[in-house]
Amino acid sequence: MRLDKFFSEMKILSRSECRDEIKKKTITVNGEPAKSSDMKIDETNDVVALKGQVVKYSPYVYILLNKPEGYVSATEDKSEKTVLDLLPENLTKFGLFPCGRLDKDTLGLVILTNDGVSAHNALSPKRHVEKKYLFTAADEYGDDDKTAIESGITLADGYTTKPCKIERIDAHSGYITLTEGKYHEIKRLFGARKNKIVYLERISFGKIGLGNLERGEWRFMTDEEKTAFTGKNGTN
Ligand code: URA
Repeated sequence: MRLDKFFSEMKILSRSECRDEIKKKTITVNGEPAKSSDMKIDETNDVVALKGQVVKYSPYVYILLNKPEGYVSATEDKSEKTVLDLLPENLTKFGLFPCGRLDKDTLGLVILTNDGVSAHNALSPKRHVEKKYLFTAADEYGDDDKTAIESGITLADGYTTKPCKIERIDAHSGYITLTEGKYHEIKRLFGARKNKIVYLERISFGKIGLGNLERGEWRFMTDEEKTAFTGKNGTN
């Protein structure tokens, strides 16, 4: 396949952007700077890299981001910075969207993809994909609060939350693992117990963890992570 097609099919670079990157010598094939956008590559065996990051051939793009505070989980917003603002320009304009929402003040793992089916499946409560968060509450929470939240609470809007799991760290903090993602769910669960979440960070999504991704950093998913997320082997 042509090198420019390799990038354009995956919606990473348009053909003209591919030519520009080649001029800047930011694309390598098997460690050598690519010479022309029409050069033929073996998309499954050649190692193609863009700005030092190996790009695997895949019809879809899967990205992990460690969200800082102050960004909204949306593709665009009139007044706020969005998680897409943390990606390089060449990745932002090709239909990526966050898989689920973290609040503006919530930190941690966000998955960005253009694979709507896998994103939908990962978020479906029927699939029971576990999302784990580190939290701190303003006031101490007791074992009665823990048990009530874990069993499910009927919130002010009448919705009863699905059972979840809390692992205590200390009187104020712990890990909470949910298999659904209702609006402000963790904040509302603690709110229903007259407490307030003051720190919230998603540390894993299913089998995919934050690892050593620094705050504000992103990277492409590994093959194992893609398999874990899509449920398909060899989506490439
Ligand atoms: N629950 C919340 O309250 N906020 C989040 O960002 C995620 C889960």
